[in-house]
Amino acid sequence: MQASLLGRPLQVSGHALRTRVIMGSMHTGFEEHPEGNEHLAAFYQARAKGGVALIITGGISPNADGVVTDEGAKLTTDEEAAWHKVVTDAVHQDGAKICMQILHTGRYAMMRQPVAPSAIQAPINPARPRALSLSEVKQTVQDYIRCAQLAQQAGYDGVEVMGSEGYLINQFIAKRTNQRDDEYGGSLENRHRFAQEIVAGIRAACGDDFIIIFRLSVLDLVEDGSTWEDNLELIARIEAAGASMFNTGIGWHEARIPTIATMVPRAAFKEFTGKLKQASSLPVIATNRINMPEVAESILQAGLADAVCLARPMLADAEWTNKALNQQSAAINTCIACNQACLDHIFVGKLTSRLVNPFACHELQLIQTPALKKKKIAVIGAGPAGMACAKTASERGHQAALFDALSELGGQLNIAKTIPGKQEFYEAIRYFKHELEKLGVHIQLNHRVQADDVSDFDEIVLASGIHPRQIELEGISHSKVMTYLDVLRERKPVGNNVAIIGSGGIGFDVGEFLSQDGPDSALDSHLFQQEWQIDASLEHAGGLTAPEPQLHPSKRNITICQRKPGMVGRTLGKTTGWIHRLTLKERGVNMMGGLEYVKVDDAGLHVKQAGEDKVLEVDHVIVCAGQVPNRDLQAALEALGKPVHLIGGAEIAAELDAKRAILSGTQVALAL
Ligand SMILES: Cc1cc2nc3c(=O)[nH]c(=O)nc-3n(C[C@H](O)[C@H](O)[C@H](O)COP(=O)(O)O)c2cc1C
Ligand code: SF4
Repeated sequence: MQASLLGRPLQVSGHALRTRVIMGSMHTGFEEHPEGNEHLAAFYQARAKGGVALIITGGISPNADGVVTDEGAKLTTDEEAAWHKVVTDAVHQDGAKICMQILHTGRYAMMRQPVAPSAIQAPINPARPRALSLSEVKQTVQDYIRCAQLAQQAGYDGVEVMGSEGYLINQFIAKRTNQRDDEYGGSLENRHRFAQEIVAGIRAACGDDFIIIFRLSVLDLVEDGSTWEDNLELIARIEAAGASMFNTGIGWHEARIPTIATMVPRAAFKEFTGKLKQASSLPVIATNRINMPEVAESILQAGLADAVCLARPMLADAEWTNKALNQQSAAINTCIACNQACLDHIFVGKLTSRLVNPFACHELQLIQTPALKKKKIAVIGAGPAGMACAKTASERGHQAALFDALSELGGQLNIAKTIPGKQEFYEAIRYFKHELEKLGVHIQLNHRVQADDVSDFDEIVLASGIHPRQIELEGISHSKVMTYLDVLRERKPVGNNVAIIGSGGIGFDVGEFLSQDGPDSALDSHLFQQEWQIDASLEHAGGLTAPEPQLHPSKRNITICQRKPGMVGRTLGKTTGWIHRLTLKERGVNMMGGLEYVKVDDAGLHVKQAGEDKVLEVDHVIVCAGQVPNRDLQAALEALGKPVHLIGGAEIAAELDAKRAILSGTQVALAL
């Protein structure tokens, strides 16, 4: 076995990075809060303590035009620089380096009049940008340089110049968005000038030992994006301008190809970073879906990159690096790439949060202290809420016991993990199992608890989850009708013609499960690239072979039904809902909205749509109409006269919500 490369130091612009693990840029929402610097300091310091070598902050704009929203963070004055000092000091105390990302959104700026190289509207922004004048372009270059100088003044070891994901620099580089006829448009050389002048200007202004990372879009994944030949020229120009290192960027935000969601295979884009490494003499960083040490190590061993960059996995586990270096993979709280509590929050203006680790970005709010009085705690139900509660209670010194009627830990996570593209949910179960065993929590499975079983405990936590919601419908007890648990847990046979009642997360999960034929591309990068038309040869502009994905059509005839009019599946997550809708559409799944359900009989599901009677001639009708709390035991437990706490689905059963479940289990355990 080869020696680990992850722990090997790396020299960059006069700085010795202590390992090859870099924390990727993540906007958290604290950047815009007056006291957010204290929170950021605590958040980043925990990761520095956890062994990471270099932290890249979330994007900060170099001027007022480049902010994401009107309130977005910028760095343009000495006063704003002073705000950052507390962050850089905290990180340096624990031996890590920190670079600030400079990000100008260009035509992606929301809620204002955006600016861009040309007045071409982004498909994901309702606002049409105005084209920057020549003098404004030159001023913007100066704004980047001043921003880097202020970052240096604030104690940052360097900056990352955000040149990918379709933001302003990328908009100058690509023909798709740059139709200028001055020195910043037209030829490739002219389109690269903006990026080149920024990097050269920062190098001249900030000196040789200032780290300049350039995040380069190796794959634009949009029509009329860069070709690989274009990228080769850009790499040479950015190197000549004085960059220290390249980071990898994958896909513009407007691209309709998943690049970080859970159905993207781990390290799916590592070979594209490998091309960048071949073409460059600078150190190169790999990114996207590198969530476990084995994946990271294999990228370095294969010589595809010099360092790995992990963003969300650092939310999931602040100690990721130390655990990786100490060969403790099983102890890592793995990011399952769900986006539910991080990216989905950012896109609706909420603070970044975290599904598997409630403490991330809440270092100053959720404080775990040893229990003042050690108690015996019974936790009934070993789903995400129950496991999180038993773990935290036990870490605080309580004697926790965890019971479940089923034969395995995980509750509804065991259902989620069976959905194609959601295999990462296995990792959440593996992590909790590892921690609970390490802590010595008494686990009793295959045991349906009665109140008497827990009468000698001091406090009882009811984490018994949910029951599927029954709907009132004529024929609901017809043999054609099934619940989602019949399909996903009991694995009852399902016919070829299916109607799914309900278009929330579970309805779509059932749709994914029943429409998946053939191998699962979430487990195979090459198949994933084929399905989503990603050009592995890099000959086509933007790295796209064809504009539309080609997914394996479903053998079943499936219809997802929704009561509400309008787009089916509108309530799905902001950053992943479009992928689920597109995937099912491409597999040929039908979607019907604005339905009134009339009855189920031998003919199938009878509905009314816009006043017209219709019959969906199906073999099965699968009800995915939400759930209700399972509190069957509550009264008997309360009769024991002990404190009884409800958590997870037993408390609130809106959707299957592991994020809320883990948080509520942790919060209750912190208060015991
Ligand atoms: C909450 C959140 C905020 C992000 N903000 C930024 C940002 O400001 N700048 C940037 O370049 N990338 C940003 N990203 C993208 C990450 O840097 C990274 O490319 C992406 O999450 C994939 O890497 P991962 O699988 O390690 O998370 C953000 C990601 C998340 C989850
Ligand atoms: S919310 Fe999901 S994607 Fe985001 S860090 Fe947590 S597990 Fe990873």
